[in-house]
Amino acid sequence: MTQVFNDLAEWQSLRNATVWIDKTIGLVPTMGNLHAGHKSLLQRSVAENAITVLTIFVNPTQFSDPLDLNNYPKTLQEDLNLAEATKVDYVLIPQYKDIYADDYRYKICENELSKQLCGKQRAGHFEGVMTVVLKLLMLVKAHNAYFGEKDFQQLQLIKGLAQAFFIDTNIIACPTIRNEQGLALSSRNNLLTPAQLKLAQAFPKLLNANLTIPQIIQQLTQLGFSVDYIEEHSARRFGAVRLGAVRLIDNFAVREW
Ligand code: PAJ
Repeated sequence: MTQVFNDLAEWQSLRNATVWIDKTIGLVPTMGNLHAGHKSLLQRSVAENAITVLTIFVNPTQFSDPLDLNNYPKTLQEDLNLAEATKVDYVLIPQYKDIYADDYRYKICENELSKQLCGKQRAGHFEGVMTVVLKLLMLVKAHNAYFGEKDFQQLQLIKGLAQAFFIDTNIIACPTIRNEQGLALSSRNNLLTPAQLKLAQAFPKLLNANLTIPQIIQQLTQLGFSVDYIEEHSARRFGAVRLGAVRLIDNFAVREW
């Protein structure tokens, strides 16, 4: 039976109880609206740990656009059904006032990678991500925490955070789950119109094609995407585009053609 906690203090007293000795704990932090991408992380955690903890928290400090925050899809009952079916042991659904009892006076900053790619357009985004992830890591004290390669820059920053602060949780990278047409699953896909969704499938195809970066930008723009960036770093090609108000990101290891 999956057990749900809304009260962080209750969760903390359970977590500090002695029953946990000798049990490995896996953590999967999410913002809810779960899909097969999240499910793959949960399944991996369930397979690799005695106990799996899922957190669902739409973290306001990582949204620079209040509209994006308000529009973020919420499907709590379906999420809990998925957690139950996946054999998740605990779901934490904390409230803002408990997670940010300090009113976000304390935050984590990183001065290099967080300023590139998505960090350029989204001021403060990664500070919000790293701060909430640190709080969740401290609350759950997991042996392993699972993150998707879909958000590769986020994953690298969290790995760096764990290393910089001597955090005893292994940060585990999980591959990107895509639909049949190759589009990376994302909660934001649910905000696309059917026509936009169809068009969105060109994004991973072009990003992963044997084309130069200017060619990719030109073709995406011609199709009606607004391109935030297409860049290569450390043998990986990263892209962010917008279709209307919806922003999509993706990345691929650069291939030998
Ligand atoms: P969210 O977008 O809900 O994603 C939660 C986790 O699922 C992240 O590690 C993300 O990389 C992973 N994920 C999302 N789509 C995926 C896909 N198609 N394939 C594989 N993994 C996928 O990322 C966040 O939430 C937040 O920034 C969070 C880390 C929870 C901090 O608030």
